Amino acid sequence: MAPEKAVLSDTNPELINLYEVVRDNVNNLIEILKNYRNEKEFYYFIRAQSPEKLSKLERAARTIYLNKTCYNGLYRVNKQGGFNVPFANYKNPTICDPNTLMQASNVLQGKILVCDDYLEVLKQYASEGDFIFLDPPYIPVSKYSDFKRYTKDFFDNDDHRELAEEVARLCEIGCNIILTNSNHPLVHELYKDYDIKVYQTKRYINSNAEKRIGEDVIVLAKQKKHIKIVKPKVPENQIGKFPGTRYMGSKQNLINAIWDVAHTLEIEKNIKFETVLDAFSGSSVVSYMFKAKGKTVYSNDFMSFSSNVAKAIVENNKVRLSNHDVDSLLVKGHGTGFIANTFKGLYFTDDENNFLDDVRARIDLLDCPYKKALAIAALSRACLKRRPRGIFTYVGNRYNDGRKDLQKSLHQHFLESIELYNDAVFDNGKKNITYNQDTMSLDVNCDLVYIDPPYYSPLSDNEYTRRYHFVEGLSKYWKDVDIQWGTKTKKFKKYETPFGNRVGAYEGFEKLFEKYKDSILMVSYSSNAFPTLEEMTELLRKFKNNVEVHQIHYRYSFGNQGHKVDDNNNQVQEYIFAGY
Ligand SMILES: C[S@@+](CC[C@H](N)C(=O)[O-])C[C@H]1O[C@@H](n2cnc3c(N)ncnc32)[C@H](O)[C@@H]1O
Repeated sequence: MAPEKAVLSDTNPELINLYEVVRDNVNNLIEILKNYRNEKEFYYFIRAQSPEKLSKLERAARTIYLNKTCYNGLYRVNKQGGFNVPFANYKNPTICDPNTLMQASNVLQGKILVCDDYLEVLKQYASEGDFIFLDPPYIPVSKYSDFKRYTKDFFDNDDHRELAEEVARLCEIGCNIILTNSNHPLVHELYKDYDIKVYQTKRYINSNAEKRIGEDVIVLAKQKKHIKIVKPKVPENQIGKFPGTRYMGSKQNLINAIWDVAHTLEIEKNIKFETVLDAFSGSSVVSYMFKAKGKTVYSNDFMSFSSNVAKAIVENNKVRLSNHDVDSLLVKGHGTGFIANTFKGLYFTDDENNFLDDVRARIDLLDCPYKKALAIAALSRACLKRRPRGIFTYVGNRYNDGRKDLQKSLHQHFLESIELYNDAVFDNGKKNITYNQDTMSLDVNCDLVYIDPPYYSPLSDNEYTRRYHFVEGLSKYWKDVDIQWGTKTKKFKKYETPFGNRVGAYEGFEKLFEKYKDSILMVSYSSNAFPTLEEMTELLRKFKNNVEVHQIHYRYSFGNQGHKVDDNNNQVQEYIFAGY
């Protein structure tokens, strides 16, 4: 069996680390193993090592080595999780088997490996049509057998009952399952509704050779045929679960108005749309709203940290960060010190910078791209929340107004943000896609395009890279950016966009309207920006017979005009244009 897509999971971190290394770094693993000797002293030296303190490679080599040279290949740990099987003193055990390792590595290419509780993994990954193999710790058949002790947490009869319930759920949703266990009465009771085959087996893990014959069972649990796939319904309050930030130009307060304009076209003019491109997605709140309304959403922003939020909660329909993932992200001491050195004394304390370095490095060890996106989104949000005014255009703490968010630690914000992002994940039954490109060169087929670029006004600063360079850098881990070392803020070179001046903005809109002239065009713009209301209407008329302008009284949260930053009474007219 060599499926193209597969997820393998176990709660044993040594095992999953080993699989990862076999998948990603098998040649170096073989080189290390070649030097390991079958000697008692060496064995106890390796056994005494704390795996967490080793590199991934050494840790994997240790696991293979102990398995090959320990007594009966047993895996047994003490209460603290320390491996405690004695040396076997075999004559010539195969410690390094390059062919088998290479074969295993080939099979593991492209496979997802997860170290987590099986229930979490099945909840996240299992879906209709999947084949699932479950090989839990067996129920002991005699009081002497002790096969349960694989990890430091025992798997008792209640766990087996819970497993049987999960098997029933998996059948309901349309999976086929093979499960193995010992031939114990409880297994027959729990799986009486399924096909159970008993077979003779040799148990190598028994000190007495005569007792190495036993009986095991294979349970075949087939998908329920009567299944009707019901499209997931988006809960009413889903939009309210969007984790807000004070992102410049965010339309969080306007999502109802934006939806009303689009939906009115559907019901009053019978202009239906199924796919929406949010071409300048920013905070992602508009994409999220359209997703919650059941549309297929394509989301794009040239800022990695913005498009990453869309990946986490718009494209991603089901993956969440588990407690185990979060624990793994909080393990200290993996960071390179890049943030601590580069941004020392600028935005956060030394401890916080070290925390960021460690977590950011740990995020790269997560396997699943959606988990990575969720973790980066949460870490970026923590930085925005912890920073006075949520921006990085100045250094120091001079705008600290004592608000509650500034009293919490980065660590606290990070954990809270993870919870919010996890809670924001939902399935709208559509395949939503996130892009991270310059919109001017993006080409996506869609029924409706929502265009909300930076608003150009000579009075205000609309440069997103300058404002958010720190979280943008964090998202990319400062790869492929050109830090301007001479600047106080250690920002990097801004990304080019046409919307930084009046002529460029005009031409930029024209180019986009031309490109999407066969789609419904929706544009957000404001009364203090260029092109003006009249110019914008004219421009849309070049491509569309019908142009509507909706005026919305909108109070900016702050910063739409350079000289009036943080002035909440700052009122401008916000427009939504619709061309069809
Ligand atoms: C007004 S904000 C969008 C706000 C968004 N609708 C929201 O509700 O949060 C403009 C966005 O355009 C992005 N942007 C600017 N020029 C771009 C370009 N040429 N290509 C892609 N994105 C661009 C910026 O990074 C910023 O996130």
